[in-house]
Amino acid sequence: MATPSIAFLGTGSYTPTRILSNQEISQLVETSDEWILTRTGIRERRIAAGTETTADMAAAAGKAALESAGLSPGDIDLVILATLTPDLPMPATACLVQQRLGIPSRAACFDVNAACTGFLYALDTAWGMLSSGRYRHALVIGAEKLSTVLDWKDRTTCVLFGDAAGAAVLGPARRESSGLIGTRLGSLPLPADLLWVPGGGSSPANLDDPRVIRMKGKEVFKVAVRAMEDVARDILEQHHVSADQIACVVPHQANLRIIEAIAHYLKLPMDRFYVNVDRYGNTSAASVPLALHEAQQAGRIRPGDLVLLVAFGAGLTYGGALVRW
Ligand code: COA
Repeated sequence: MATPSIAFLGTGSYTPTRILSNQEISQLVETSDEWILTRTGIRERRIAAGTETTADMAAAAGKAALESAGLSPGDIDLVILATLTPDLPMPATACLVQQRLGIPSRAACFDVNAACTGFLYALDTAWGMLSSGRYRHALVIGAEKLSTVLDWKDRTTCVLFGDAAGAAVLGPARRESSGLIGTRLGSLPLPADLLWVPGGGSSPANLDDPRVIRMKGKEVFKVAVRAMEDVARDILEQHHVSADQIACVVPHQANLRIIEAIAHYLKLPMDRFYVNVDRYGNTSAASVPLALHEAQQAGRIRPGDLVLLVAFGAGLTYGGALVRW
């Protein structure tokens, strides 16, 4: 008997209630609603409460994804969580989510860090593990509390990011021909200081550096457009799919101008792209699963549709996934 495809069985998300508008940020740093909106497309972002952690947000998104899949925590035997803002250096935030949701002890639980491409790395890993037949249902989460690694005095970064979580349950396809078709991951070996958190790690060279995001925005912009365009083209070519067959592209939400540039190069109208960067800013590993969940809720993704996920992040990592919904 042929192995069933691995499909998205449910999605979920969680966003903190606190909204931080551009107007409010302009009281913290020398900026304006007009500058942020025209350069990035961002109007507002969510900020987690002081006591609310990445694991809390991840668990809320995970619970919603389980409900949408019609499964219970006991059905999950694999939890992969993508984040660059874990609650603790150890244990993995995935283990904290396991405890919060009551996922059984036979489940494998671990984190991955590929920055903003994290969800795609987690998705590809889960796909491989589920396809082996040794695991049945995976909870794959992207969650970030980026507000804790922002320099609220640096206007070139603090206006861009926000907190959120998105999740998906993957398992054997329930409808014929639905499921993951292909994934493509990579990492461009560029200098780390293009986009990094210099302090807070074990490098003795960076012991005194701050644990906040630093970025060379202009350089990252160019590399991001090229990397996402290339990975989209590669994956479409590899699976003999033309761009206009894609019903919905769910890109990493870093900057509206980056998404518009990709649309231009792929010769696709913007209405094929799901965009929510205006409401959440860049939520790193949470960005793609949050947008995917919202796109589905909004009826932008329907059963049978071809969906393309694309992302890039620090590293400089990039990734894409082609899915028959
Ligand atoms: N408000 C007002 N002015 C700002 C500002 C802010 N928040 N941030 C920067 N500026 C200023 C700069 O200091 C600069 O002033 P100068 O010309 O006097 O030196 C000017 O605006 C232009 O800055 P620049 O960096 O050239 O702007 P830009 O058009 O490249 O836009 C980004 C900056 C960060 C929005 C853009 O480069 C970007 O989105 N890069 C990619 C970032 C990204 O996606 N990172 C995440 C990857 S996962």
